[in-house]
Amino acid sequence: MTSTRTRRIRKAVFPVAGLGTRFLPATKTVPKEMLPIIDKPLIQYAVDEAIEAGCDTLVFITNRYKHAVADYFDKAYELEQKLEAAGKHEQLELVRHVLPPGVKTIFVTQTEALGLGHAVLCAKEVIGDEPFAVLLPDDLIWNRGPGALKQMADAAEENSCSAIAVQDVPHEMTGSYGIVATQDFANRRGRITRIVEKPKPEDAPSDLAVVGRYVLSPRIFELLETTTPGAGGEIQLTDAIQRLLEDEVVDAYRFRGTRFDCGTHIGLIEATIRYALDHEKLSDAAADMMRNALVELGVVEIS
Ligand code: G1P
Repeated sequence: MTSTRTRRIRKAVFPVAGLGTRFLPATKTVPKEMLPIIDKPLIQYAVDEAIEAGCDTLVFITNRYKHAVADYFDKAYELEQKLEAAGKHEQLELVRHVLPPGVKTIFVTQTEALGLGHAVLCAKEVIGDEPFAVLLPDDLIWNRGPGALKQMADAAEENSCSAIAVQDVPHEMTGSYGIVATQDFANRRGRITRIVEKPKPEDAPSDLAVVGRYVLSPRIFELLETTTPGAGGEIQLTDAIQRLLEDEVVDAYRFRGTRFDCGTHIGLIEATIRYALDHEKLSDAAADMMRNALVELGVVEIS
């Protein structure tokens, strides 16, 4: 068993080519990654997490409908001039610092929607021969301390291995996730012995589900090149990771933080409530408004 991973991640891949059909009609024109939690689009939360973890090269795997993502990270000259002229310095800073200085963006088009594994493979030339991160922006992870990717990248670097974020899910939900079997956990890490994409509850090796944060060895690209369609007829990242286990160490990492599945309506609502209740300016008003709404709608009774 060998491990080729000894370096810190610098590059992060964001697969953002999905159609976002669950959020139609909004996603007819607005990519789902641009849906906001308060005032920041989902993609910004994932990008901030990658930068905090030490990444300076952000690779977006997009499709021809996703110009809004590229536009968002581009410089907005006219808007900046108007904000400057109007003396709106605070807003100007927000617009200017969507990305900190020194961070590069690269956009790669995925011409056919062949699955998450295929999307990651599209980044092969840009990543080259170094470990890298994959972040699925639908999975929003809230934490007061270091972000989930930073926690994982620190652990993966220390252990010179790949790492995948995991959390426990209800047994009946295994069919919505990649599910891992592991050796015993110590310091939040457990070595993965098996990984399977969206198993039925009766076939699931555990209730430990993959969350959309990965630190991967570049060897994954060779494996993805020969990975055939799996669950749902798609080229699955999970299937290539199962093959990676045969010659490299891949750890499951139980991150600190709360994950919201913003690929679903209820997850997006839950995240909005959490961020509002934790917001320095909005928390009191948001809590009052929620209490009043619960009472007015008869969801809870006044005692
Ligand atoms: C993808 C992965 C799955 C993982 C999930 C996490 O599935 O294929 O292994 O558990 O993300 O959000 P998707 O939700 O894109 O179908």
